[in-house]
Amino acid sequence: MKKRYLIGLGGIALSGAFLYVYQSQFSHEPLLAGGVPDSAVIAHRGLSYEAPESTFAAYNAAAKLKVDYLEGDVQRTQDGVLVIVHDNNLAKKSNIEEVFPKKKKSFIDEFTWEELQQLDIGSWFNQAYPDRARDKFVNLKVIRLEALIDIASKATSRSGRPMGLYLETKLAKRFHQIEDQIVDLLRVKGFLDELTSSYKDSGKQPFARVVFQSFEKESLTRLKEIAPQIPRLALISSEDKIVREPNRWNTYLAEVKTLAHGIGFSSKDAQKYLFEGAAREGFFVHLYTVNDPDLFQSRTLLGTNGFFTDRANLLLCYYTRCVKPLEASAILQKIGY
Ligand code: G3P
Ligand code: CA
Repeated sequence: MKKRYLIGLGGIALSGAFLYVYQSQFSHEPLLAGGVPDSAVIAHRGLSYEAPESTFAAYNAAAKLKVDYLEGDVQRTQDGVLVIVHDNNLAKKSNIEEVFPKKKKSFIDEFTWEELQQLDIGSWFNQAYPDRARDKFVNLKVIRLEALIDIASKATSRSGRPMGLYLETKLAKRFHQIEDQIVDLLRVKGFLDELTSSYKDSGKQPFARVVFQSFEKESLTRLKEIAPQIPRLALISSEDKIVREPNRWNTYLAEVKTLAHGIGFSSKDAQKYLFEGAAREGFFVHLYTVNDPDLFQSRTLLGTNGFFTDRANLLLCYYTRCVKPLEASAILQKIGY
């Protein structure tokens, strides 16, 4: 009896020690401007290298990997449903040509939610990437923002924090007051409360459970007005000359300082002075869209604080937050794909 008791105690002590080592291995990254953690793993449209972008498959796989943020582009249907779709239309990444041949290039707000649900947004992936194709990707559907929030609400990141959402207001000029609708939904879902009260690192700065991003200054302005506590990232397109002209870059940073906490630009544009200017003004820098481990290294050395990536499994390992190399295909299988 006594022996069994001692063995039991030993087991508990061992699991405790394992838990301690496991947790300290993935200790919290420090928080930067707005409460955004350094070395952020942002799953761009989910685990979208391995599964069709912006679907349950891609987001659930990323959540299973325990990324820091699930990234998504928010648009709105004709009947007012907030949905996660990146492209301006579904011509390339759905079977719209078969279902609505006359509306192939129509915008998302020219369809009702029910109409969008008639589309298959998975099969294109199988055709484009036969080496990553899966039968279960056939007939995947557009998802609501609400569903994405639900995935994040049940998940934690590998650093031990709650899983975050990194939401882009896409074509915001087209979707009147979409910012207000997004913020209202986040509030209903309890995400704004968590930001301000229930999760704080060492009782100090709150961790940013939500980050907003936009290429449009007007959208960032509205987001700041209605939800000032949520950090914002100003996205800059490669087509914008400011990323090639140091003087204009510095002027831009000074202008956007009151609007954003972070700056996001393409990894292709990465030059030293862009990082230096951003650091001088106190911005964090997130680069899009980086899938190559060599680039994780070189861009981090320049001063990148996190990446939008389609291959979150590789980035987690680069940041030494994976227990062993993470086989994306095993994860997809585990979650039923
Ligand atoms: O949102 C960051 C990055 O995703 C911006 O580019 O076109 O992929 O939304 P895009
Ligand atoms: Ca995006």
